[in-house]
Amino acid sequence: MRDAPVLLTVLAAVAAGLWAWRRWHHQSFWLVVGYPIIALSVLASWRRVALGCGLTKKRQRFWFTTVPGMVASTGVVRVKRRFQRIAVDTKPFMWLPLPTRHGWRVTLHTLEGQTPGDYADAAERLAHSWGVHAIRASSPRPGRVVLMATMRDPLVKVDQLPAPTDLLKVTVGRLENGKPWTIDFRTVPHWLNAGATQSGKSNLANALIVGLSPQPVALVGFDLKGGVEFTPYSPRLSALATSRAETVTLLDDLVGLMVDRMGLCRQGGARNIWQLPPGIRPTPIVVLVDELAELYLMADKSEKDEIAKTSTALLRVAQLGRAFGIYLFCCGQRIGSDLGPGVTALRAQCSGRICHRVNDPETATMTLGDLDPAALVSARAIPAETPGVAIVAGQDGQWYRARSFYVTEQTAEHAARTYADLAPAWDEITSHLPESINA
Ligand SMILES: Nc1ncnc2c1ncn2[C@@H]1O[C@H](COP(=O)(O)OP(=O)(O)OP(=O)(O)O)[C@@H](O)[C@H]1O
Ligand SMILES: [Mg+2]
Repeated sequence: MRDAPVLLTVLAAVAAGLWAWRRWHHQSFWLVVGYPIIALSVLASWRRVALGCGLTKKRQRFWFTTVPGMVASTGVVRVKRRFQRIAVDTKPFMWLPLPTRHGWRVTLHTLEGQTPGDYADAAERLAHSWGVHAIRASSPRPGRVVLMATMRDPLVKVDQLPAPTDLLKVTVGRLENGKPWTIDFRTVPHWLNAGATQSGKSNLANALIVGLSPQPVALVGFDLKGGVEFTPYSPRLSALATSRAETVTLLDDLVGLMVDRMGLCRQGGARNIWQLPPGIRPTPIVVLVDELAELYLMADKSEKDEIAKTSTALLRVAQLGRAFGIYLFCCGQRIGSDLGPGVTALRAQCSGRICHRVNDPETATMTLGDLDPAALVSARAIPAETPGVAIVAGQDGQWYRARSFYVTEQTAEHAARTYADLAPAWDEITSHLPESINA
């Protein structure tokens, strides 16, 4: 009994030590203490969890079972052991879980008749059973499924990463797996950036302004919200359209530029501007559109022709822009077919998809298309408390949960002013076209 205070003091000291270790060096604490405990508990609970999540299969097994036998003359019941067929629940074979930066991953052997989709469908149930933030299922090869567990949401706080130096490449945030979230216009030329109001669309556009401003590219803005979003960045923009009339003229210029660049490539025997010698290669242009719907919404019938022109021109830019160095980044709350057939066709040309928090399931479906249904579920589960969190899909067909860095309007304005002298004049870019917006 006399040792009790000593024991309590030792326990308290150990607990305080563990707490301090976890707080000051979470990575080593996780590897040495957290991960082994979690790995053992995942292995130990796998049978129960697989049963609960419907991932087991009934299999016939031959087993020695005990059956009641005859009653002997002494009155004692003699039991017999018999070789019998019985149905048992079989769980998928699980390898040892391995630690990752934000949790653990484990490989499973699928049972007959199972597909990776069965595991993706059970992902939410698995996450709740193991008490982790999220489980993602992927299949590296037939017959194997890898479950990736993240213990806590790594996107609650994301730190700024160093800017890449490649042309038309901007690191705008971080992916859930800790890797940088990079928008590379040369790999994925056109992007749709959807989300409800206050979900982080403009913040992402700000991150692009900051990342692209120091690069030798021309930036062009379409802002039919009266120019309130992009006007502060006008020092670095080569052209900005804030009204429908300006939109039509600026899009005409872009289509004209494309046709001009087509001729240049033809003469130079090149398939795209990147095959031209650097000396004659035209400047790449990144077109930022805020609130895409505004380009398509009709206040009255008189606007019908202008909208039709806008829709056709934007679609042509999307179809041919890639080869001729014109890239699109379109933001909008809704990017649906209700805006007209032009939007559906434009959407098909935009292989880059970003879906922030949405209010309705259709917007997520419209943005992410028929990607993995788990991506849609994930998009709809983005909470309002974490603006900037989005589901991102690129060319590879994979989808990721990601969060943009917080980039204020002031930071973007500052970058636009600092690199104002790098903005090529629109007159210069379009000098050999018949008419231009600034003419
Ligand atoms: N990545 C982020 N990290 C932290 N906060 C963010 C992030 N992105 C956005 N926010 C916060 O959310 C607010 C709304 O973001 P933003 O203006 O980008 O939304 P939006 O989708 O453009 O909204 P709207 O449709 O109304 O223009 C910002 O003012 C900022 O405070
Ligand atoms: Mg906005």
